[in-house]
Amino acid sequence: MTLVVLVSLCAVLTLSYANPLNHHNCKINGKTYKNGVIIRVPEIYCNTYKCVDGYPSLLEKGCDWEGECIPVKGTLVKNCKTYTCSKSTEGSSISLLEIDCDFKNKCTPVNGTLVEDCITYTCFLYENGDERIVNMSSTKIMCEDKDGICRNPGTEFKLVVNDKLSDNCTCEIKENSIDYKCNKDICRRRKKPSV
Ligand SMILES: *[C@@H]1O[C@H](CO)[C@@H](O)[C@H](O)[C@H]1NC(C)=O
Ligand SMILES: *[C@@H]1O[C@H](CO)[C@@H](O)[C@H](O)[C@H]1NC(C)=O
Ligand SMILES: *[C@@H]1O[C@H](CO)[C@@H](O)[C@H](O)[C@H]1NC(C)=O
Repeated sequence: MTLVVLVSLCAVLTLSYANPLNHHNCKINGKTYKNGVIIRVPEIYCNTYKCVDGYPSLLEKGCDWEGECIPVKGTLVKNCKTYTCSKSTEGSSISLLEIDCDFKNKCTPVNGTLVEDCITYTCFLYENGDERIVNMSSTKIMCEDKDGICRNPGTEFKLVVNDKLSDNCTCEIKENSIDYKCNKDICRRRKKPSV
C-alpha cells in the first residue's frame, strides 16, 4: 500500500511538473474540490482521496465494517468495544483497541466499577491466549437505608417497612440473599447478585 501511494504520488509530481497548466478541479456529486485538496465525502467516506488534475486519486482506504465505516486512525465504539482502522499491507485492517464490560446497559472500563442498589460491580479483564475477555462481578455488597444511602451490613439504620418507619434495622449478607431485619424479624429479602 505504501509503495502504491509513493508510486502514485511520484506520478502526480511528474504529471504536474510536465504540464503545470493542467490543474483542473475535481467535481464530485455536483461539488467542486480544488486541485490538490484532500477529499472526504459521505458517499466515499471510508476512503480518502486527493484531487489530482480533475480526478480523485485514492490516498487511503478506510475500513468497512459491518455496514459502518472507520477511517484510518479513526475509532468506532460498538457493544462497549472500541475498534480502530490501521493501514496494512492489504490496504487497511480493523483491530480491537479497547474492550469494556457491557453490563446493565452501560459500558464500564476494565478495573472500573458500577454501583447499583448499594451493590458494587467491578469489571475484570482476562486474557485467554490472544482473546481478551471481560467479566463484571459484584465486589462489594452494602445495605440500603430508607434514604437510599448505603450502610455497612451489621450497622443499624432506618427503613420503611409496610409504609411504617422502622428504627433498628440491619442487614445480613447470606449465600443467595440479602436479608433486612428490623427488631430481629426479617422484613425484606433481596436476591444476592449471582455475578
Ligand atoms: C487493572 O488492574 C490490574 C491489577 O491491579 C492491573 O494489573 C491492570 O494493569 C489494570 N488494567 C487497567 C486497564 O487499568
Ligand atoms: C464471568 O465469569 C464467570 C466465571 O468465570 C462466568 O460464570 C460468568 O458467566 C461470566 N459472566 C459474564 C457476564 O461473562
Ligand atoms: C432500638 O434499639 C435501641 C437500643 O439499641 C432501643 O433502646 C430502642 O428501644 C429500639 N427501638 C425500637 C423501635 O425497637
